[in-house]
Amino acid sequence: MQDDTISGIRSFESAGDYVRRMVQPEQITKYLPPGGHFIDEAAINSALKTAAAHPNDVAQVRAIIAKSRAIETLTLAETATLLYVTDPELRAEMEEAALAIKRAVYDNRIVTFAPLYTSNLCVNRCAYCGFKADNTQQVRRKLSMAEIRNEALVLAGRLGHKRLIAVYGEHPDTSTEYIAETIQTVYATQTKSRTGATLGIRRVNVNAAPLPVEDLRVLKSVGIGTFQVFQETYHRETYQRLHPAGTVKGHYDWRTTCMHRSLEAGADDVGLGVLFGLYDWRFEVLAVLAHSRDLEAQFGIGPHTISFPRMEPASGTDVPTSSPYRVSDDDFQKIMTVTRLAVPYTGMIVTCRETAAVRDRAVLKAGVTQMDASSNIAIGGYKEFAMESQQEMHRQQFVLADTRSLEELIRDLGKMGIITSFCTAGYRCGRTGGCIMDALKTGKEGKFCKVNAVLTFREWLDDFASPETRAICDPVLERELKAIASELPLFYPAVKESYDKIVAGERDLFF
Ligand code: 5AD
Repeated sequence: MQDDTISGIRSFESAGDYVRRMVQPEQITKYLPPGGHFIDEAAINSALKTAAAHPNDVAQVRAIIAKSRAIETLTLAETATLLYVTDPELRAEMEEAALAIKRAVYDNRIVTFAPLYTSNLCVNRCAYCGFKADNTQQVRRKLSMAEIRNEALVLAGRLGHKRLIAVYGEHPDTSTEYIAETIQTVYATQTKSRTGATLGIRRVNVNAAPLPVEDLRVLKSVGIGTFQVFQETYHRETYQRLHPAGTVKGHYDWRTTCMHRSLEAGADDVGLGVLFGLYDWRFEVLAVLAHSRDLEAQFGIGPHTISFPRMEPASGTDVPTSSPYRVSDDDFQKIMTVTRLAVPYTGMIVTCRETAAVRDRAVLKAGVTQMDASSNIAIGGYKEFAMESQQEMHRQQFVLADTRSLEELIRDLGKMGIITSFCTAGYRCGRTGGCIMDALKTGKEGKFCKVNAVLTFREWLDDFASPETRAICDPVLERELKAIASELPLFYPAVKESYDKIVAGERDLFF
């Protein structure tokens, strides 16, 4: 065990003491099957081996696609079969089904958000990450509440975001109290648009280290949106190699069970993810599915979202560029398509780590549902940098590839006939967690979301869009409004009333 002292306010605390304070064995074992694990490596490997032996079985693949189209979660064996499809025609059928499922469950829209990096202080030493404690090139700092407010002002006021993912390193100086205070600070920050409307962030999701149940209850009490923790790799041996023993992150099971704790603490939504490029992607897709299925089995609710981070170059490490498991664009595409088919009701996120071309394909061929935009991941970057697209290697976790502004993304989606949703209603009117999952599975949520997407997109276009953007997006929005009129004739008059109020300057109306 390494016991060097952590710098910062609690400098009296050794790394070993910090690990002992954080990791609570009884909050791990209660979620694991006796003597086993819900990530069963032998079962995953065996499913992969069986599928590899019979690739491209047309009848079998079509039967699996039909099950997905019926919005049913797939088994490990079925998903493994899809992962080995190489036949171009079958791949095309899978992509077609992925898009059809996305439309049935999530309709014709993409939800947008932006990351807010609050701090790069970190006690861990993840081999691939620019924030790792032993990276001396990283310029360390955490944002004060005044700085958080400044970032929120740019995000809500200049860029027009309504949803954030706040990101935290793991460090005693950015503990649960700090996380809770940043969430409250963001919610309390308001400004005005050019139309005089009040603007503010309406949903703060969090990406942070695993926490004990008590801490997760604190975050719930301040209105956290989704709690997102990526496992990075589910392959235990690789995990141990990349996350040194003696660090908190070195505890594989403190991490694998953190979403169980989160649901136990009453969190409505949890988000999973694998950092693709660390280990064999087929194994990881099955593992994240096993994780999802276990949450569903134990809590009656699967993950709200699955994210698809793929490794990018980062400060102070060559792991991202030298890993033997780097994933090609084509395999990455397949990973997302298969995941859409395996967990048809789960939201899927692809971030600005990826190029615009890869992201556009993810929308059209994999049914991705959420994308960030105008993202700046340098600590304090929104306020300090003249351009959101500016990047500084040693002030951020990794390097971004898609630096489109939110308006550019919205315009590009508009050209594809897709509307951008800023809806945060599910969270505020109680349509979250198990309830939203049921609604998504039956297609009901799609209708509410469609309406709220139309209303929030109208707000954004009026508050932020240039005439060129409006020329592209207004017709797409009007088409959606007409679809509501014909699909939901009884509901439509109420929708139209709210729509007209928004055009007249009212804000934040939702169903
Ligand atoms: N490239 C892309 N993503 C990374 N992350 C860490 N390092 C990198 C990198 N080099 C991801 C991890 C972490 C998340 C916030 O960012 O998956 O959980």
